[in-house]
Amino acid sequence: MTQVRPLFEFRTIELPREADVCVRFWRDAYVCSFDDPDRYRTRTDDEYLIWLADLIAEIPQGCVHLLRNGEIAGQVVVNPRAGNPVGYVNLFYVVPAMRGTGAGDALHEYVVAVSASMGIGKLQLSVSPSNERAFRYYCKHGWVDLGPDPKHEEVHRMELSLAERTKKRTAGEGSV
Ligand SMILES: CC(C)(COP(=O)(O)OP(=O)(O)OC[C@H]1O[C@@H](n2cnc3c(N)ncnc32)[C@H](O)[C@@H]1OP(=O)(O)O)[C@@H](O)C(=O)NCCC(=O)NCCS
Repeated sequence: MTQVRPLFEFRTIELPREADVCVRFWRDAYVCSFDDPDRYRTRTDDEYLIWLADLIAEIPQGCVHLLRNGEIAGQVVVNPRAGNPVGYVNLFYVVPAMRGTGAGDALHEYVVAVSASMGIGKLQLSVSPSNERAFRYYCKHGWVDLGPDPKHEEVHRMELSLAERTKKRTAGEGSV
């Protein structure tokens, strides 16, 4: 029987082996958001990797690489702590060559599934309004703009209600 390999696969980020990739994606997200990898950044590269390693140890299923044909096509870092009703997505990232190919949709489905499996009712994230592509991506996946973050006015908070999303999908509405 022929085995068909799934188009996209997910696996937990491996540190320290993939430290360079993690720093590159994280810094590029700042470039996409603010045209500057250092603007508004609150952690050094080393501090970021320590923070990420701790999160991987705690929630391995929340810190994953998206693979296509075995190659890294994207990454997501989501922090859905069990018992906390609101999870936080720290990073959605698709490598430039894979943007607009459905890889972003696969990442989004993954985040929703992992968060729902941990009993999370809502997800939040921060996005720069100048990052128009990301903003459009979140809107089309049902995220609602809550306006400027009171603590960091340079970004907007966005929120996704997982219960609301399930209701809409059951009723045949929504884009995903
Ligand atoms: C954000 C990201 C994960 C989305 O993945 P993606 O594969 O690019 O997403 P999609 O192509 O499915 O959706 C992007 C949408 O923005 C649209 N778009 C593209 N360029 C745009 C622009 N300059 N302005 C507005 N919308 C734009 C696309 O047409 C698409 O909308 P559509 O599906 O209705 O046509 C990816 O772009 C990325 O990794 N960006 C760099 C890192 C980053 O900024 N992460 C977010 C930090 S908050």
